[in-house]
Amino acid sequence: MTGVDLDALLHLASGLAVEAGELIEEMRASLEGSTGQGLTGGDLETKSSVVDVVTPADKAAEKLIIDGLESARPDDAILGEEGSDRLGTTGVRWLVDPIDGTTNYVYDLPAYTVSVGAELDGVMVVGAVYEPKGNTLYAARLGGGATRNGQPIRCTGKADLETALIATGFGYLADRRQGQAEVLLEVIPAVRDIRRFGSAALDLCLVAAGQVDGYFERGLNPWDLAAGAIIASEAGASVGDLRGGPPSPDYTLAAPPPLFELLRDLLVGLDADQRP
Ligand code: IPD
Ligand code: CA
Repeated sequence: MTGVDLDALLHLASGLAVEAGELIEEMRASLEGSTGQGLTGGDLETKSSVVDVVTPADKAAEKLIIDGLESARPDDAILGEEGSDRLGTTGVRWLVDPIDGTTNYVYDLPAYTVSVGAELDGVMVVGAVYEPKGNTLYAARLGGGATRNGQPIRCTGKADLETALIATGFGYLADRRQGQAEVLLEVIPAVRDIRRFGSAALDLCLVAAGQVDGYFERGLNPWDLAAGAIIASEAGASVGDLRGGPPSPDYTLAAPPPLFELLRDLLVGLDADQRP
């Protein structure tokens, strides 16, 4: 990992996440009405299913971030939710989610974020997640701890299931959701309560900040989890799949180490990562 300045990568990621967040806020403010009706009809396209929407703001924000990355670091690889996919030669790959929580954005609910992460030789090294409504920037680089608006944050020390507040999320396809709901049916009675905010990147940052105890979800994309995972991990959480590997589209679980073990055992017992 020599030759790459991780602080410089984090500075770039943070600046672009905030700039893109300001852009999507401007675009939202220019819409008619204050709720979802401003973003219906011709403004909305769909992706994997009719409820998986993409707005002009998703595309404009991704373009802003990609343009910024290309001008600062033209030889890096980039993968973005709205279609950016290019190879690089430096070992650095950027993972970009221009609006994580697009459904909330459409409905003018506050829980959406811009997520910009970078891996070096396949290892996550930098993450920046910006929540425009709260003007909150979460950031971390490998070995440097995690911050919220520049102040250090830590996950909770929760070590039992019964009083653990757990965030989760659901995919866009009906059979995936059915499996996730079946798992939840068994988890809810075992924990304090469940939260579904609607942005995986934010869920992971809330674990980092100790505002929920843990988070799990099946079926995330690499851009959903990249930045949030290193932020949670640098805040002291264990972050992984259910089989000893790194967080992945198969499964993402984040929690303080003792709670991680308890949740992993519970979820493995429910075959949570083996369902559709
Ligand atoms: C979605 C959000 C949501 C999670 C879904 C993701 P998007 O991302 O992170 O919380 O449950 O799995 O796909 O589509 O809003 O960028
Ligand atoms: Ca996303």
